[in-house]
Amino acid sequence: MKVLLIAGARPNFMKIAPIYRESLKYDHVECKIVHTGQHYDYDMSEAFFEDLELPEPHFFLNAGSGTHAVQTAKIMVAFEELCQKERPDLLVVVGDVNSTLACSIVAKKLLIDVAHVEAGLRSFDLTMPEEINRIVTDSISDFFFVTEESGMKNLMQEGKPKDCIHLVGNVMIDNLFYQAKKLEKDNESCFPTFELKQQNKDYVFLTLHRPSNVDTKESFEEITFALNQIAAERPIFFPVHPRTRKMMEQFDISFSENIYLLSPLGFKEALFLWKDAALVMTDSGGLQEETTALGVPCITLRENTERPITIKMGTNMLAGTKKESILKAYRKSIKGKGKEYKLPPKWDGRAAMRIWMALIVG
Ligand code: UD1
Repeated sequence: MKVLLIAGARPNFMKIAPIYRESLKYDHVECKIVHTGQHYDYDMSEAFFEDLELPEPHFFLNAGSGTHAVQTAKIMVAFEELCQKERPDLLVVVGDVNSTLACSIVAKKLLIDVAHVEAGLRSFDLTMPEEINRIVTDSISDFFFVTEESGMKNLMQEGKPKDCIHLVGNVMIDNLFYQAKKLEKDNESCFPTFELKQQNKDYVFLTLHRPSNVDTKESFEEITFALNQIAAERPIFFPVHPRTRKMMEQFDISFSENIYLLSPLGFKEALFLWKDAALVMTDSGGLQEETTALGVPCITLRENTERPITIKMGTNMLAGTKKESILKAYRKSIKGKGKEYKLPPKWDGRAAMRIWMALIVG
């Protein structure tokens, strides 16, 4: 079975790592990694391949940045050419980024089966580009690998055949458990942020990059106001995404001195910081899940989430995007430190194994 596994943007790399590793156990599976080039800076891409022990991608499409249409189109043109040469039996896509959407459409039109990992998640917010990517990818996929119960429900409501939907757990958590174990043996003093962590206890770890939060001055300033207030109580470690850095400069946003602006971090160094944080504040999807898996309190700087299990069972709380709601969630979360949480079903580090079993055995 000839399989192409797609990765393009940062969160994809964590998801493909366990799927690729597991594929090596099956002699009759030839799995090749296609990097679309959606993310290309060393610290947004290559650093993750190194940290996650991924081999060099077998194919690199070099799509780069652009508007949604330009980026999606560039990936589609390059991937179509590759598919025609390679003629894979199956395409495996993960998550909800533009690369996921672009490659799924190309494969399906070439009559190649598509397996979507992390299928069925819905924020029901069509202003979010990822929601469009999720809906379109699921509308043409043949196999649906689902992380949580809400995904099963959404796909059933959309009329997908029951025997094509598999609740397998979460490959992002497979990767997290694998890497967390390795981190225990690593020499943490090698991380450039080692001293910073030593000197600052009880810190907040922050990530922020959603266009809805940082692409308008009003929303970015609203969130910054709340962050500066929180920074008066405890330090905030903030690895800044390139999009956010650009908008910060454009809008002349100024942060309190107690907010430490860092370069984007590799997977391991980010984990080294957030696993021991008093609180994680984020607008990312993956971190909502990862904090749930390690029981770290998290507040999500969004009005909705496509990952409701992290709120129902985990440590996550929706904070909204207004200064008052963020500060309210912050106080509630800091007070409720140590609240009960449970691991969602099948988040046990074996999702990738279940995916291959379903693909091979059926
Ligand atoms: C993309 C995903 C988002 C994911 C995020 C994680 C889509 C629609 N969005 O958003 O779901 O949460 O990745 O990071 O696919 N840039 C660089 N270097 C890079 C990559 C990007 O400088 O290596 C800059 C470029 O100026 C670019 C901007 O960041 O225009 C945004 O990158 P893009 O891939 O378009 O979207 P993200 O915001 O990263």
